[in-house]
Amino acid sequence: MVETTDEWITTRTGIKERRILKGKDQGTSVMGIEAVKGLLKKTKTRPEEIDMLICSTVTPDMMFPATANIISHHAGLINAFGYDMNAACSGFIYALVTGSQFIETGKYRKIIVVGADKMSSIVDYTDRSTCIIFGDAAGAVLLEPNNDGLGVIDSILKSDGSGEQFLHMKAGGSRRPPSHETVDAREHYVYQEGSSVFKFAVSNMADVSEELAKKHNMNADTIDWLVPHQANLRIIDATARRLGINHDKVMIVIEKYGNTTNATIPLALWEYESRLKKGDNIMLAAFGGGFTWGSVYVKWALNPV
Ligand code: UT7
Repeated sequence: MVETTDEWITTRTGIKERRILKGKDQGTSVMGIEAVKGLLKKTKTRPEEIDMLICSTVTPDMMFPATANIISHHAGLINAFGYDMNAACSGFIYALVTGSQFIETGKYRKIIVVGADKMSSIVDYTDRSTCIIFGDAAGAVLLEPNNDGLGVIDSILKSDGSGEQFLHMKAGGSRRPPSHETVDAREHYVYQEGSSVFKFAVSNMADVSEELAKKHNMNADTIDWLVPHQANLRIIDATARRLGINHDKVMIVIEKYGNTTNATIPLALWEYESRLKKGDNIMLAAFGGGFTWGSVYVKWALNPV
């Protein structure tokens, strides 16, 4: 489709394969519904027990209603309310922290957080600087209360709107509604100034993870797993290096899925789940459009299933 090579893609990004959702009228919710159904089955939870569902996505099925509502309907969550969150590639950690607050207040007992994106719907396959990166995926986690100090322990979340110029979609929103002109100018696709985003991603993701680790007296020995947003293997490696964490403690799935935006972190947790133990110290870290970024300290709550 574009002038590129496997060698360039592999060495610059670490990506070998992507998954693309195909078929007519298949939106992000299709993957979200599958993820939620799988999660309910695995955790032996009845759909009617779920109180709330938050879906973080930049590719909702429609501008409204929320994809969270569509997923809940098709997964049978008849007692759940929910909404979408958009914090670009940091969306999943923002939504995770939001969901955990609702649990901590004691108001709700079972909350599902879904990170899902059909990036192929907003990728320009004539733009070699973005079309080689993104893939489609969804992942979901279940949040429940406990008295054992497990789950989401702490977080640092940040945003800086001056990053807008480097990573955005030009049209389709209220500033530039869809028109012939915007379609002809290919403005309904991801626009990214890759090398600028790269620099911000490396320094901000590492800074915030380091700050959170220090706050909890954690170091390379006591952190069991680093789960970075999967945008580029070089960003993942740089973040791990800054924290002094060995490669074998870093969850890496970018080779198989590419950058799936809101799905990268739950997807990584899902792929590595059989290796996680109750009580493991896990640092999640993300950086994305906005700019948005942050780090979350999680103590894993389950033994392998
Ligand atoms: O997930 C949300 C946050 N996003 C990120 O964190 C992404 C951060 N950015 C990146 O991962 C990288 O910047 C990219 C993978 C997007 C690009 O890699 P890069 O090493 O920063 O390349 P670049 O944009 O600086 O471009 C270097 C060269 C340019 O050619 P010249 O001007 O040096 O002749 C590009 O035209 O590589 C060229 N190039 C390509 N060549 C072959 C760009 N894309 C391609 C390509 N194949 N697909």
